[in-house]
Amino acid sequence: MTKNIVLLPGDGIGQEVIQAAKAVLDTVSEEYGHSFSYQTESIGGSAVDEHGTPLPDQTVEACKKADAVLLGAVGGPKWDTYPSHLRPEKGLLGIRKALGLFANLRPVKGFEKLLHASPLKEEVVKDSDLLIVRELTGGLYFGTPSERQNNGQSVVDTLSYTRHEIERIVDKAFESAQLRRNRLTSVDKANVLESSKLWREVVEEKKAQYPDVEVEHLLVDAAAMKLITNPSQFDVIVTENMFGDILSDEASVLTGSLGMLPSASVREDGVGLYEPVHGSAPDIAGQGIANPLAMILSTALMLRHSFGLDHEAQIIENAVKEALDRGYHTADLQVHGGQKLRTKEMTEKVVEYIKSESTSN
Ligand code: NAD
Ligand code: IPM
Ligand code: MN
Repeated sequence: MTKNIVLLPGDGIGQEVIQAAKAVLDTVSEEYGHSFSYQTESIGGSAVDEHGTPLPDQTVEACKKADAVLLGAVGGPKWDTYPSHLRPEKGLLGIRKALGLFANLRPVKGFEKLLHASPLKEEVVKDSDLLIVRELTGGLYFGTPSERQNNGQSVVDTLSYTRHEIERIVDKAFESAQLRRNRLTSVDKANVLESSKLWREVVEEKKAQYPDVEVEHLLVDAAAMKLITNPSQFDVIVTENMFGDILSDEASVLTGSLGMLPSASVREDGVGLYEPVHGSAPDIAGQGIANPLAMILSTALMLRHSFGLDHEAQIIENAVKEALDRGYHTADLQVHGGQKLRTKEMTEKVVEYIKSESTSN
């Protein structure tokens, strides 16, 4: 049966890396006999320019009907001074909310060949393999911001969570830990924030339902430190929206580049959205040099989580490994030797290895 995939390229390098996802999917469909149809819709700054809104209704409707959604990235300096409702980022937050995607899974696992690409010592980075489970539709990014008051002298953002919102993300994290190494670290700021106190309470209550999972609580400031001093102590990290946003960019350092981290934004049932962790990278946009691997690895997550195509997902991940093992890399990766490739060339290497894997089997 044909799977209908909505592509949301967005802005900046989003437009460039989405092409890599499509090339990889075309190859998978040719080699493994699947049928994918694509529908491209607009979101972010480009949607503001074309339709006067960062999230057109048509985009939301198309995503709701899709079997899965792939998103590049949104944002850029052109729209930075626009009012809040016309910010590209509002489109991204809006589509996650509209689809009910409360769980953002961000796996962080370094490739052997890139161990030395991290500014951290190899012995620190070695053996790190963790999953950040970030709450995605609540917290500060969905609070009610006030207009600036008192002549611009004060402003308020609100951080609120319901017990239900915390429970469902914590359940997702426990379940994820059961599929991995049965360790869960809940990250909060329970020494200060009320929302974190409730978060910690919920984690403590839920523990009984998952007796095989070992639980630890960490305050976010210490967690940020431990993430880059002893990353291999972590298996699954669960945390609220903003902490998860910040910690995942930090964790990307373990892999050598933000351009390596994929993510899956999901709910219990229903359509999933797959997106790299990185943004639109205005500093390199339009040059054709962006690292497509975060987007390609997000595509593998889509095949695995939305379509149950575990084997094909693994083939893509192997192809990425193969390209790196042979010394190919993009400009963002600080590696010794090898050959530096542009976005399209790197994608072609991955495509080539997917093809050779399929013919060798
Ligand atoms: P960014 O992630 O776009 O870039 C941070 C740095 O990482 C830049 O130096 C960039 O060149 C580099 N980088 C990121 N992805 C790369 C890739 N695939 N290949 C090579 N280098 C890569 O973050 P930023 O600069 O803080 O934000 C730029 C814009 O992106 C802002 O408008 C922001 O709101 C938006 N943003 C969007 C998303 C998203 O759409 N999911 C995520 C983060 C930021
Ligand atoms: C991300 C981004 C977004 C977020 C922004 C652009 C709204 O930083 O996907 O990590 O904070 O969720
Ligand atoms: Mn982010």
